[in-house]
Amino acid sequence: MTDQIIIFDTTLRDGEQALNASLTVKEKLTIAIALERLGVDIMEVGFPISSPGDFESVQTIAKEIKNSRVCALARALKKDIDAAGEALRVADQFRIHTVIATSTIHVEKKLKRNFENVLEMAVNAVKHARNYTDDVEFSCEDAGRTPIDNLCRIVEYVIKAGATTINIPDTVGYTLPSEFGGIIQTLYNRVPNIDKAIISVHCHNDLGMSVANSITAVEHGARQIECTINGIGERAGNCSLEEIAMILQTRKSKLGFTTNINSAEIARTSQLVSQICNMPVQANKAIVGANAFSHSSGIHQDGVLKASNTYEIMTPESVGFLTNKLNLTSRSGRHVIQHRMQELGYREDDFNLDDLYESFLELADRKGQVFDYDLESLVFFNQINSEPEYYKLENIDVLSGSGIVATATVTMTIGDKQKMVEAATGNGPIDATFQALMRISNLEINMDDYTLSSKGEGKEALGKVDIVATYNGQSFHGLGLSTDIIESSAYAMVHVMNHIHRAKAIEVQKQKKIIGKEI
Ligand code: KIV
Ligand code: ZN
Repeated sequence: MTDQIIIFDTTLRDGEQALNASLTVKEKLTIAIALERLGVDIMEVGFPISSPGDFESVQTIAKEIKNSRVCALARALKKDIDAAGEALRVADQFRIHTVIATSTIHVEKKLKRNFENVLEMAVNAVKHARNYTDDVEFSCEDAGRTPIDNLCRIVEYVIKAGATTINIPDTVGYTLPSEFGGIIQTLYNRVPNIDKAIISVHCHNDLGMSVANSITAVEHGARQIECTINGIGERAGNCSLEEIAMILQTRKSKLGFTTNINSAEIARTSQLVSQICNMPVQANKAIVGANAFSHSSGIHQDGVLKASNTYEIMTPESVGFLTNKLNLTSRSGRHVIQHRMQELGYREDDFNLDDLYESFLELADRKGQVFDYDLESLVFFNQINSEPEYYKLENIDVLSGSGIVATATVTMTIGDKQKMVEAATGNGPIDATFQALMRISNLEINMDDYTLSSKGEGKEALGKVDIVATYNGQSFHGLGLSTDIIESSAYAMVHVMNHIHRAKAIEVQKQKKIIGKEI
């Protein structure tokens, strides 16, 4: 049996499912490119039957990604498999992942069927998926609570029907590592054709055991682990990719497994996913938390100074955290910025040097010194805002103080119209800015969540604003970054307004297609 563990990332499917605002196609593609660079073998990027937006993003990613295999989810239904096959067919190589629940509680209560029906549906689904590709994965949802005889039977049948990967999910994060390892061992002992497929595991983290269960499973023969960046996913999340990768790397001499993950990309991928998905990483999170490599107590600090391996089992550099932070000023030239970006591990096509340099100079004028993390933030924000902006903020003036009603005046260009100016009052300068932006755009937006955080360190940090807002029943996430928090708030709101504009355009296109079909 091979000692190579296949890393199957499901950040853009199971992870995305758990967000409070769904991601745009551009945002998903940005994450997919980062995952490809991180070295994931397979990325599951959506559930195409679920919405036209999901279909489009699966198709776009399938076209772009060349070095990881792209996969999409389908229930064990012909229409789901057809949608997945259609969305993926533009890829050079792809996988269809089909799923049906197998535990008694799911079969009887959720599906309102019996196990024999489920068996038949599973076999038919796998056979149908094989019409699109030779790479078919089958999942027994809630395998962790499925009677073992049924599990062995369905696994044998779907392998016979052509499934090449069999996924054993602990859907509700219930099993203990010893039980989960036992399930994998029993499959190896009892399923006669088990050697014809790769065994995969997909563990949820409801009791905090997803990583331990996945590692135990590979010790019993599983060779694919399904996981997500920062462990995002349904409820308490999924098994976290960075923890799996670093366990296998750090404990290689004990476990003996390898992966294709380039661990130096972990920190950057984690930060990108956290920002785009609006899911902060807890400070004490293993591997990627802000405190994961910081030593607080005097005894520990003393030990690390004497020999870093007294308290460090891996280095911050090994997961891509920078220890040497350079600061630049407005006197730094274009080639200095370009060179520093290369040193930070960015490739030429990761950023547009003209745009980056322009935003760098603007920031250097305001802040004096620009640090590595500022440069990285600028690249990120330029990337996120690279789509054409229908609403463009030109200027804001705010009048505020104790004893006066806060008033904001905003100037914007909207589409190809000339500059427009609007003013509004509010119960503070940020509220007044939002009121003026809504008035000028004529959009009735409901603010569900507003978070202000610092990006960077100390008093030099930039103000980052994340907004979750609803328009016409749909949620949108907006991000803004500036040295001035009122400006960051305005940018975040304008980001939301541009998302709304794009969503409206997609809706108009959908209606046109429907009318076209009716005619
Ligand atoms: O948790 C689960 O069972 C799933 C399946 C679709 C694999 O996400
Ligand atoms: Zn799941």
